[in-house]
Amino acid sequence: MNANLYASRRARLAAQLGADGIAVIPTAPERPRNRDSDFLYRFDSYFHYLSGFTEPNAWLVLAGDGRSTLFCAPKDLEREIWDGYRLGPDAAPGVLGVDEAVTVDQLDARMPRLLENKSTVWYPFATHKGLESRVDGWLSSVRARVRFGALCPEEQRDLCGPLDEMRLVKDDHEQDLMRRAGQISARAHIRAMKLSAAMLRDGKDVREYHLDAELLHEFRLGGSQYPAYSSIVAAGANACVLHYRADTAPVRDGELVLIDAGCELDGYASDITRTFPANGRFSGPQRALYDLVLASQQAAVAATRAGQRFNDPHDATVKVLSQGMLDLGLLDGNKVGSVDDVIEQRAYFPFYMHRTSHWLGMDVHDCGSYVEPTQLGEISERKDPLSNEIIKNRPSRILRPGMVLTIEPGIYVRAGEGVPEPFHNIGIRIEDDAIVNETGCELISRGVPVDGDEIEALMRA
Ligand code: GLY
Ligand code: MN
Ligand code: MN
Repeated sequence: MNANLYASRRARLAAQLGADGIAVIPTAPERPRNRDSDFLYRFDSYFHYLSGFTEPNAWLVLAGDGRSTLFCAPKDLEREIWDGYRLGPDAAPGVLGVDEAVTVDQLDARMPRLLENKSTVWYPFATHKGLESRVDGWLSSVRARVRFGALCPEEQRDLCGPLDEMRLVKDDHEQDLMRRAGQISARAHIRAMKLSAAMLRDGKDVREYHLDAELLHEFRLGGSQYPAYSSIVAAGANACVLHYRADTAPVRDGELVLIDAGCELDGYASDITRTFPANGRFSGPQRALYDLVLASQQAAVAATRAGQRFNDPHDATVKVLSQGMLDLGLLDGNKVGSVDDVIEQRAYFPFYMHRTSHWLGMDVHDCGSYVEPTQLGEISERKDPLSNEIIKNRPSRILRPGMVLTIEPGIYVRAGEGVPEPFHNIGIRIEDDAIVNETGCELISRGVPVDGDEIEALMRA
C-alpha cells in the first residue's frame, strides 16, 4: 500500500475544491445477486483512486484545506470470521495516510458538522443512487443550526469534473499497472487461440465457453482479480453481434473467432480484441478482410501521439477501411462514389458502426472528457448524412502524454443483398491499448500478435 501516492492525489484534488469547499466520496455498495449471495464486490473507482481502500461500506470526506476523514466499517470479530478482515478506524490513518478515521455509523451524525461553514459541497453527480438526498439531509441539519451562527453551503458541484481530469492522465503507478494488466490479458488471448486449434486438431467439440475458460484461467494465474468487463467470445457469425458474450455456440473449423477480453488488475482494466481462425489457418476472404482491418489499425496507431486529436485515429481508420471496402467490393463505387464520398456520406457505416477508441483506465470505458477543454466555445454544426440530424460538435480532445486509449477498428459483414458472398458473416475487430507519449504511443497489449502470419504460426505451435 503506497499511502503517499493516494495522499498526493488527495492533495491535488483538495487544491481544486476551494478553501471553503468539501468533497464527499462514497465507495460502491455491495449488490445482492440472489437471496443472501452478493455479486463479487468491486469498489468505486473514484473512491479507490483517492484512498487505495478496497473495503465496502466506506466514505471519504476531503476538505479544501487537505484534511481527510475516512468513514469505514468498525472492527467486528464475529463479522470478520464470516466476511473477512476489516482494517477498522484505529488502523486506517497509519495504513491509508488519512488524517482521521471513524466508524461509518457516525456518518450522518458527523457530516452536518463537517459541512458547517463551508461554501461548496462537492460529490460525484449521477454516480451513486440516493447520494443527492443524503446530502440534502445533511444540509437540512446544517440549516437547522444557522440561527446559532453556522453557515450552510450554498453551492453543490460535481466532483466528477476535477476527478475525471485527474484520472484521464495516468501517473507512473497507473501506467505500470496497465502494462501488467495488458501482459496478463495478452497471455490469456494466446492461450485461447492455442486451445482452439489444438481441440479442433483432436477432432473435439469446441465451444465458446472452452475458450472463455482459458481466458479466466490465465487472468487469475496472473494475479488479476476479475475480467474488466464481460468477455466476448464470438464464433463465426456471432462476431457480428457487437455486445455478444461468451456463450455455448460451437467453434467450427473454417470459421473465425472474435475474442474481446481483458483482465482488471488492482483496479485497472485492459481491453484486447483478437480475431483468429478457429483452426489456425485463415481462408482467402477472411485474410483479405483481416489485413484490411489491420491496415486501418496501423493507420490509427500512426495518428496517435501527443498533440493529435482524439478523433484523428478514428478518421485515419475510416479512411483506410472505406478505401478497402471499395477495393474488396463490399461497397460499389458506381453507387457510392469515391472514397471521399464514402466518408462524407458515411457509406461505410453498415460495416463499421462503432468508434475506434475510448479512454481506458480504472473503468474499461474510462472517465474523461472527449472534448478539448480549452475550446469548449468553438461549436460547429453539421448534418448527419444518415439521420439528417443536426449534430453540434466541439473540437475533440488534444492527446497528451499519459492518456490511455484503445485503438479498435473492425469490420462486420452480415449476409445481405449486394454483399459479396465470400465475406458473409465475417466479423473482425483488432483492439490494442495505447499509452500516449510525445513521439507516438506505446502499445501495451501486443504480447499477443496481430499479424496474420504470426497468428497462424502461433496456432501451429
Ligand atoms: N470491450 C469493450 C470495448 O471494447 O469497448
Ligand atoms: Mn474497447
Ligand atoms: Mn474491447
